[in-house]
Amino acid sequence: MKTLIKNATVVLPESTLHTSVLIEGTKIVDIDPAIQVAADHVVEGEGLHLLPGVVDDQVHFRDPGLTHKEDLYTASRACAKGGVTTFLEMPNTNPNTISQEALDSKLALAAGKSLVNYGFYIGATPDNVAALKHARRTPGIKIFIGSSTGNLLVDKQEALERIFAETTLPACAHCEDETTIRANAERFAGTTDITDHSRIRDHEAAIIATRRAIDLAKRHNHRFHVLHVSTGAETPLLADHSGLITAEACPHHLFFNVDDYARLGSRVQMNPSIKAKEDNSQLWQALLDGLIQVIATDHAPHTLEEKQQPYPKSPAGLPAVENSLALMLDQVHQGRCTIEQVVQWMCDAPARVWDIVDKGRIAVGYDADLVLVDLNKTLMVRDEEQETKCKWSPWHGESLTGWPVRTWVLGHEVFREGFFDESRRGSEAVYDHARGGYWATA
Ligand code: DOR
Repeated sequence: MKTLIKNATVVLPESTLHTSVLIEGTKIVDIDPAIQVAADHVVEGEGLHLLPGVVDDQVHFRDPGLTHKEDLYTASRACAKGGVTTFLEMPNTNPNTISQEALDSKLALAAGKSLVNYGFYIGATPDNVAALKHARRTPGIKIFIGSSTGNLLVDKQEALERIFAETTLPACAHCEDETTIRANAERFAGTTDITDHSRIRDHEAAIIATRRAIDLAKRHNHRFHVLHVSTGAETPLLADHSGLITAEACPHHLFFNVDDYARLGSRVQMNPSIKAKEDNSQLWQALLDGLIQVIATDHAPHTLEEKQQPYPKSPAGLPAVENSLALMLDQVHQGRCTIEQVVQWMCDAPARVWDIVDKGRIAVGYDADLVLVDLNKTLMVRDEEQETKCKWSPWHGESLTGWPVRTWVLGHEVFREGFFDESRRGSEAVYDHARGGYWATA
């Protein structure tokens, strides 16, 4: 099966060319403005931009066990619509993904349900170092240094030292200091004011935990990725030229701040909490300066019914995978960054951080995970049009300019202008260096 995408503006991302891209089977086989072949599908790309599919390295898709909020099928539809062709999912499902058995069964679920490519982290507990040491078919280890949704937590120094010392898989962490959160929660005991969420999970909680995790990573020379950086004050801690430390920012921390509680209430209740307006601009600056390399969503759906409970019963988390690329393309439209930077942050960097070979770039030999976007298309985000099972978005009512229009996963066109082709499934996106290939799907 050959697909020719003709005359598009192709973001590689180190350069941008007006050219044509030929897909054969699952791979990109040629990039040349003069390609002349009899293709099964010819796509006219004039006036549109072709990007590598987004690699979202932090999502919570709730499957198994919490599927009233989301499942791997609904979440993967949201991904396909949003231009996300690969996701890496977090272990706070039910059961938690803390053993090889739980990982293997999640992978089997995804093989049957996911329209896009997938990988699953293994979660750390205070006593599963043996499982972490021997884990296969996973991009890495997720540590909740501070608690969030679910019961995963490793905050004792001895347990953290063991994980960083004895395991070899790359690690990432939710960095909010549990002791600080608990002390603040006591000070605000009895509150029902949602704005107190950012006082309980305050700047100090984030800074202390990020400093602690980076210290562990450096002392043990352990590859480490700081998830969802939420404060400007953390960003100088991320300076590292050896490639040992990488970091990520999420759209909600770039676009929302405490002033938004008045308008959006618990819709923007997140862990780490949203912070001050200055943090928004400092996180942007850290992206532009390269201190933060990745943009990921932390897509964390809860039903509106759950969210509408009074604080602090309302759970933290918001859905984002189907709007994250559009949110960033809208920033390109506003002149805040370039389309090459968006591709760098959302496609290339996460693939390099998690060693996802052959993805995140448009190059001959790379996987044909692609998204065609229309930088001139303006659409309003609406709750009722969301593919995520929870059917709401914190960006409801906002008009964005720059939207995905067609998405290919391994050469298969899974999404085209509102329609899905569900005849194929995505594939496991964790590379096995020992065998020189991706792990076979179950
Ligand atoms: O707000 C959050 N919700 N932050 C997380 O880290 C977890 C997530 C969830 O799973 O609901």
